[in-house]
Amino acid sequence: MRHLSVPSAQTQHWLELCRANHWNSNQAGVTRLEDGRSAIPLLESAPPQSDLIWDGNHHLEIAVQTKAPTHWLEHFDSDLAEKYEHELPRSYEIQGDVLIVKLEESVFHYGEMIADAMLTQLPNIRLVCADLGVKGEYRVRDLEPLASRDGTVTTRTRIKENGYLLWVDSSSVYFSSRLSNERVETLASANKLRAHLERPLVVCDPYAGVGPSMGALLSEADLVSGCLVGDLNPEAFTLLELNMIHLSGRRKDSNGNPPPPLLPMEVACCDAKAWPLEVKNIGTVDLLLVNLPHHSIEHIPTLLPLLKTNQTSVLRGWAIVDRAAISEKELEIQNCILSLGGTVEKFAFSEVKGFSTTKSFMCFEVWMNLPA
Ligand SMILES: C[S@@+](CC[C@H](N)C(=O)[O-])C[C@H]1O[C@@H](n2cnc3c(N)ncnc32)[C@H](O)[C@@H]1O
Repeated sequence: MRHLSVPSAQTQHWLELCRANHWNSNQAGVTRLEDGRSAIPLLESAPPQSDLIWDGNHHLEIAVQTKAPTHWLEHFDSDLAEKYEHELPRSYEIQGDVLIVKLEESVFHYGEMIADAMLTQLPNIRLVCADLGVKGEYRVRDLEPLASRDGTVTTRTRIKENGYLLWVDSSSVYFSSRLSNERVETLASANKLRAHLERPLVVCDPYAGVGPSMGALLSEADLVSGCLVGDLNPEAFTLLELNMIHLSGRRKDSNGNPPPPLLPMEVACCDAKAWPLEVKNIGTVDLLLVNLPHHSIEHIPTLLPLLKTNQTSVLRGWAIVDRAAISEKELEIQNCILSLGGTVEKFAFSEVKGFSTTKSFMCFEVWMNLPA
């Protein structure tokens, strides 16, 4: 590659001049030469050695090992990259072999080119989709395929989260990898409750989606003895069933042996509020998860009868709350327990960062003791 040889003390000056004129190549770095000079890599488009701009500094050929591109933009049209520098996407989400990207309206027209450049840079990606927002009663993502490596456009894929595998399909079932930390916290709380009760837990996750929380809980040895899980969305149920078969099949106790079968063990496609309608489910649950953020709090009273009585049980849920109404909602949750004559042993209401700015995405956790 052609290089400009300059006195080392002037390297910065010449680098700046080359950069300003788009003459330097970023395929190689500056090379220190033995004679106290530096060599700046040049693009083919840089003027020849005879040009007066170089002030008599000579050019030389140096063999370089070119850097492999590190960003999809390096595979994208450079004129467009410059023109739309501020509109082109800076981030994206990867779920298994599917990449989901939000595109500004001004660059949507170049969606396929952007997707092709992403497929070139990221060999493990099969499909690139534009995220058009949320759709339908189950608030799933509206995804438009932009380019596929093998012609398939299904958004069903398998991801690995915190060590466990999950089938997901963001165009038909809610799933957010941004909540994986919440799953870690759910596991921490479950472990504390298990230590407190000195026995494995019965867990109920009635808004389970594809079952990421159960992924975290069932992967822990000796933590779960039974579970009631479900979702109202039939497409969620299909993936939930697949994931539950996989997750329960790979359970091991702390000695690495197969543990006793889960009891109860029910996976259902149903309204969460239907679980307490069956007498056999009343008073059976140690840990109840409530994840329907726009309605979680109003659903609590219907679901509380699932919890075991005369012992500590835990309700953990997520809610979207107006910032001004946080204290009011805190009281509302606590009142659900107090109105049943229960006691609140511990209460936490904390914001999960990184969501909407106008409202708060809150996590609540109540340790309680309900009377029989
Ligand atoms: C915010 S998502 C949470 C999914 C999952 N827990 C997770 O963390 O990925 C809420 C889920 O509740 C389901 N859902 C909505 N209304 C429901 C209801 N009345 N009963 C049961 N599930 C419901 C939706 O289909 C969706 O999968």
